[in-house]
Amino acid sequence: MSKRYLVQTFGCQMNEHDSERIAGLLESDGYSQTDDQSQADVIVVNTCCIRENADNKLYGALGNMKQLKADNPDLQIMVGGCLAQKDRDLIQQRAGHVDVVFGTHNVHRATELLSDARTNGPITEIWEAADPDDAFPSALPARRELDYAAWLTIQVGCDNSCAFCIVPAVRGEEISRTPNDIVAEAERLAADGVTEITLLGQNVNSYGRDLALAARRAGNQAVRIRPAFAQLLRSVSAVRGIRRVRYTSPHPKDMTAEVFDAMAETPEVMPHLHFPLQSGSDRILTAMHRGYTADRFLTKLAAARATIPDLAVTTDIIVGFPGETDDDFERTLEVAAAAEFDSAFTFVYSPRPGTEAAELVDDFCDPAVVKDRYARLRTVTERSALAKHSERIGRLEEVIVEGPSKKDPSRLTGRTGQNKLVHFDRPDGPLRPGTYARVEVTEGHTQYLMGDFLEVTTKATHRTRIPVL
Ligand code: 5AD
Ligand code: SF4
Repeated sequence: MSKRYLVQTFGCQMNEHDSERIAGLLESDGYSQTDDQSQADVIVVNTCCIRENADNKLYGALGNMKQLKADNPDLQIMVGGCLAQKDRDLIQQRAGHVDVVFGTHNVHRATELLSDARTNGPITEIWEAADPDDAFPSALPARRELDYAAWLTIQVGCDNSCAFCIVPAVRGEEISRTPNDIVAEAERLAADGVTEITLLGQNVNSYGRDLALAARRAGNQAVRIRPAFAQLLRSVSAVRGIRRVRYTSPHPKDMTAEVFDAMAETPEVMPHLHFPLQSGSDRILTAMHRGYTADRFLTKLAAARATIPDLAVTTDIIVGFPGETDDDFERTLEVAAAAEFDSAFTFVYSPRPGTEAAELVDDFCDPAVVKDRYARLRTVTERSALAKHSERIGRLEEVIVEGPSKKDPSRLTGRTGQNKLVHFDRPDGPLRPGTYARVEVTEGHTQYLMGDFLEVTTKATHRTRIPVL
């Protein structure tokens, strides 16, 4: 029987995708996946540090693994990701049973580090920055979570300095992957039967700025210093077999009309825009260094909706940024209501040591006040979500089938072009995940839609994975 691994992931899509790469590397090394910790020969914890509690969660998870290691001394425990990048040696100091600590820039070293640790004992290896020649180890195998949909990293790192955000410190400066490499990977994915691609980056619409600057430095003065994201959307959409293209996350300050035009003119780019507001108060937006005002945000949003038919818009909002007053918060409520989001990820501000805002201790908001504001904001965002979802009733939507519904396994769940979940019945049994089907929306709820199955529009084409036992 082959050796087994388990990867536990916290955090964003970037981390999920890194976990797929780690899993791919382990599988190339002969490991097979298990869901059962007690069966695992290697456990990888891929950590996140964007909001609070990450450390508690990590050390809680590691505490539980102590006994596993006592029962099976050959078990190897690895900790990677953003918190590992940030805390480094601290992890092995606090949890001596961890074999390998690695960071965000040396994911591709995972299996080498494991075998080093086996012979030489515990290792912490953190790189300060990505190796520019090797920032996108595109040749790395990835074990995709879904066979029919894939993430494609177009850029790593972030050159912004939002006052609340730890990402630039743990993911480093922005490095874009070349358009040729990206399209080549999209082609490989399509050849493998993938029909949906999500382009990933911390700030996707500044994609290509660094490449243009580098070309200029190399003497090519004809290169214009402007982001190339709109063109990239078109190029990836043109890859045969790719039916759906999504991306996350853009930054409102860098969003241009060209991107909206590309979305409108390219049927493969799905009508969904994630547009992180963060706050509706100009004072707070300035303190956050977001680079836009609430008006500017709403104007761009109106332009997006005017250009892209049937656009769904989601957002991120932080409540209780240091110094946020009742007035500031009222503005957030107003702007959130005016923006009519389809859905919102709402967060309570959490100080991340090392960020600018974490220094503003004297301005931290009263947690009870923040709790109350948070609940009020949820009421506003849930109201617009419900209104948006109720508007879908009676519409025919093409969905990509994800599998049995988690709530009610007798139903199927699919995802619409607008990225909404629809739960629906299919009278004559399940459909293979990755199938495209048409459903009629019958109910709109805050987080999902209900629908009736009408017909299969395209059968799934990807190869089914045969588990290695
Ligand atoms: N506190 C609360 N929310 C945060 N986010 C990022 N950093 C923090 C923080 N320190 C939120 C932002 C971002 C999303 C991914 O997480 O809204 O857009
Ligand atoms: Fe963080 Fe701002 Fe960069 Fe997004 S754009 S990753 S919020 S610093």
